[in-house]
Amino acid sequence: MQVPDIIIAIDGYSSTGKSSFAKIIAKEFSFLYLDSGALYRGVTLFAIENGYISDDCTIDVPGLDKALTGLDLHFGEDGTYIGERCIEKEIRSLEVAGKVSPIATVAEVRSFVDMKLREFGKERRVVMDGRDIGTTVFPDAELKIFMTADPMIRAERRAAEMRAKGDDVKIEDVLKNLQERDYIDSHREVSPLTQAADAIVLDNSHMTMDDQMVWLRNVVSERFGC
Ligand code: DC
Repeated sequence: MQVPDIIIAIDGYSSTGKSSFAKIIAKEFSFLYLDSGALYRGVTLFAIENGYISDDCTIDVPGLDKALTGLDLHFGEDGTYIGERCIEKEIRSLEVAGKVSPIATVAEVRSFVDMKLREFGKERRVVMDGRDIGTTVFPDAELKIFMTADPMIRAERRAAEMRAKGDDVKIEDVLKNLQERDYIDSHREVSPLTQAADAIVLDNSHMTMDDQMVWLRNVVSERFGC
């Protein structure tokens, strides 16, 4: 499929399969894939390891803000890196998942991440997933998709993913974490998770990846005539 130079913004609730979907789209359309959540997770790991967030999620905002100027957080061959260190495994832990939403409420953290994301969008041909890509980072994205799915189905998918990586997790804990993140993400003051007025909703509760790709190709060919 010959797709024009566009930005595809995929937003939605946690564990709706945004990144798996975005990766397949990137491969099929030869687009660059960017996981914006990984940058929030990277900042969270950095904050945990350097004492900018406590166990009860109190954040030292001025300290963290100052430290961000020297933080070399970037994407590399095996995912997300701080300097030379690959942090891909650590940023997927339940500890980071439990602290990332409070960290993502901090305005200074959001501008740090937004700046990095906008750099990548300059050339278009990018598919990016997150919570505020279509509303804040790229409000001019040519295609905006808002993903949702039944919470229990999402928790089961996420638990299976974590178990496959060797984490022994309970479904109740995963569901609780998802619901807490949904709440914080949708209720924060800065760039809350909301559906952009021009986004198309995709509820994939009962869809396979193939079903989703069929859906997407239809949307793209109708909208861009390709
Ligand atoms: O997509 P994810 O689960 O890896 O995202 C981790 C957290 O980062 C999520 O709870 C909210 C935050 N996030 C955000 O606030 N804005 C984005 N564009 C992406 C993620």
